[in-house]
Amino acid sequence: MVFTAPPPLHSDRLIVRVVEERDLPALLEIHAVDDVTRFLPYATWQTLADAQAWYERAMRHHADGSALQFVVEATGSGVVVGTCLLFRFDSASARAEIGYVLGQRHWGCGYMREALASLLAFAFNELSLRRIEAEVDPRNAASDRLLRRLGFTHEGLLRQRWVMKGEVKDANVYGLLRHEWSSAPR
Ligand SMILES: CC(C)(COP(=O)(O)OP(=O)(O)OC[C@H]1O[C@@H](n2cnc3c(N)ncnc32)[C@H](O)[C@@H]1OP(=O)(O)O)[C@@H](O)C(=O)NCCC(=O)NCCS
Repeated sequence: MVFTAPPPLHSDRLIVRVVEERDLPALLEIHAVDDVTRFLPYATWQTLADAQAWYERAMRHHADGSALQFVVEATGSGVVVGTCLLFRFDSASARAEIGYVLGQRHWGCGYMREALASLLAFAFNELSLRRIEAEVDPRNAASDRLLRRLGFTHEGLLRQRWVMKGEVKDANVYGLLRHEWSSAPR
C-alpha cells in the first residue's frame, strides 16, 4: 500500500488539498496565535522562517511516505482557513493518525468537522485504511467534541505521555474504525 496524495477533496464549503509553498504566509497568520498552538507540539510561529521549517518537515514526510499534509481552503474566496494531516502512517496495519488546526477567526463554524469528513472518507475509501487514531490533550475540549461528533471512540488516557513546552502532559487516545465510519449517520 502506498500513501499517495489525492486530488483536491471538495465538500459544500471547503476544499482540502495538499499543502503548497504559496500557502505559507496564510499558515503563518494562523499559527502566530498562542490560543491556536496551545495544545500543539510546537511553539507559536514568529516569522516566515518557522513556516518554512514546518513546510520542509512536511515535504520530508511526503517523500518518505509517512505523512500527508493538507490545507483547508474556503471554496470561492480561496482563503486558507486551516490544515489537517494524516501521519504516523503504518502500512502493514493500514493505520494512520490525524491532526488538524483551524485559524482562530474560523472557530465555531463547523469547518473542521466538514474538512475531516472529507479526509476520513479519502483515508478509508481511497487509501483503504482500517483505523484512524488521534491524540488530544485532555484540556482541549473543542478537539474532544469534534472527534466524538465524527464518530471517534475515546479509548483511553495515556498518562504523562509527553514532555512538551516544559510541561508533562497526558494524552487522550481516540480511534475510528472503517466499518464505524461507513455505517455512521451523517
Ligand atoms: C480543535 C478545533 C479544530 C475545533 O474547531 P472549532 O471550530 O473550534 O470547533 P467548534 O467551535 O465547532 O467546536 C467543536 C465542538 O466543541 C464544542 N466546544 C468548543 N469549545 C469548547 C469548550 N471550551 N468547552 C466545551 N466544548 C467546546 C463546540 O460547542 C462544538 O460542539 P458541537 O459540535 O456539539 O456544537 C479548533 O479549536 C482548533 O483548531 N484549535 C487549535 C488547534 C488544535 O488544538 N488542534 C487539535 C489538536 S489535537
